[in-house]
Amino acid sequence: MEREKKMKVAVIGMGYVGLVTAISLAEVGNEIIAIEKNSTKLEKLKLGISPIYEPNIQEYFKKYKENIQFESNCENLNEDVKVIFICVGTPENKDGTADTRSVYEAINEIINNNVLAKDIIIVIKSTVPIGTNKDIEKLIKNKTNKNIKIVSNPEFLSQGTAIDDAINPQRIVLGTDSKETIKILKLVYKKNNRKYVITDSNTAELIKYACNSFLALKISYMNELANICELINGNIKDLEKGMGTDKRIGKYFLKSGVGYGGSCFPKDTKALVKLAEREGYEIKTLEAAILVNKNQRIKLIEKAKKYYKNFNNLNIAILGTSFKPNTDDIRESAAIDNINILLNEKANIKVYDPVSLEIIKEKYKDSIEYSNNIDEAVTGADLCLIFTEWKEIKEYKLNNFVKYMKKAIVLDGRNCYEINRIPKKMIYEAIGNKKR
Ligand code: UDX
Repeated sequence: MEREKKMKVAVIGMGYVGLVTAISLAEVGNEIIAIEKNSTKLEKLKLGISPIYEPNIQEYFKKYKENIQFESNCENLNEDVKVIFICVGTPENKDGTADTRSVYEAINEIINNNVLAKDIIIVIKSTVPIGTNKDIEKLIKNKTNKNIKIVSNPEFLSQGTAIDDAINPQRIVLGTDSKETIKILKLVYKKNNRKYVITDSNTAELIKYACNSFLALKISYMNELANICELINGNIKDLEKGMGTDKRIGKYFLKSGVGYGGSCFPKDTKALVKLAEREGYEIKTLEAAILVNKNQRIKLIEKAKKYYKNFNNLNIAILGTSFKPNTDDIRESAAIDNINILLNEKANIKVYDPVSLEIIKEKYKDSIEYSNNIDEAVTGADLCLIFTEWKEIKEYKLNNFVKYMKKAIVLDGRNCYEINRIPKKMIYEAIGNKKR
């Protein structure tokens, strides 16, 4: 049988989404040209080193690197490229809207490349405000005679499981009214068992915001229930089981804690509020979820105030600084908000995180101390605060808190331990649980 001809696909932006997209598209046999402007990142990529931490990424990267060529800009794209994925960042503006400048920069670079074929498809994977795909279409019509089709194809990958999420997506959303574009993208995504949701570009863009916001709503709802559990002496973990076994509710994203963080939920929830506002609509459920999250993030400090009136000169151990386990990402991590408050109140802080310590060091330099392991972090501490449910933290020998801390007061923002396992000499409070 004649071997299927490889499709040449470009991916612009080698952040989490871009690199993982490039690897997953190479995995199904496409030939990738990956573009990254940042020269330090580009050098690493060329050497086969992933600039991001993600479980299994290095192995996958090594396996498919041969099919990925790295370049610094779009000038090096030639007429063989049929499809271009835009995966650049859309960070939050000061007013909560999304900053789409990098997306438009990429579009302009593509328009100004005269070597590219006349018929190309641009796939917008970056999370963009509703209407952006339509605006780009208009811009292209005004600026070039090329037959460029735009398709919205939002990304749903989670940090920590990004490779698997991209290789085996639960669905692929395609927002376009062009049948030909859908046909070609199905060739790019190749595998037969894919589930597609085909819609217009505005709805596709909204699906991304709607999913992240719905999950954020779920979390804030559970956090409010956790607060009620504390008032009625209930148990949030049992409540979670009682709810999660109902298929209509589902068992995921019901974990209470110190709120959601990361590069997506905080940014996308605010952006959806802004988008609704732009259309003259107030999305009250989401506004409430954002407010609940803001308050939830400082729950441990509130709890700590019961034990210490102020934190001046207090030795505080912080366990976990990444916004969730299995990532080194500290963006919008609850630990950061709390470290800042504690520093302001002149506490002595010692942190431990299995992966993000180097990034934390860059941020806080010598204003806090860093530990190589949990024992070291908790030694001599008056208080220990847990912000990330790393496996290592969950499996820590609880008696060691008693053994090493000056006062074994552990406040756990991620419900890492079963209450009945807590040693008698340890004061332990989690979120939404009976205290011990
Ligand atoms: C999220 C979406 O899940 C993903 O589909 C999208 O593409 C990007 O945003 P990510 O930011 O990687 O992914 O992390 P996620 O696992 O969703 O967690 C987000 C935050 O919610 C974390 O801070 C996590 O600790 C918190 N969370 C999650 C909870 O507090 N409770 C839960 O039950 C689940």
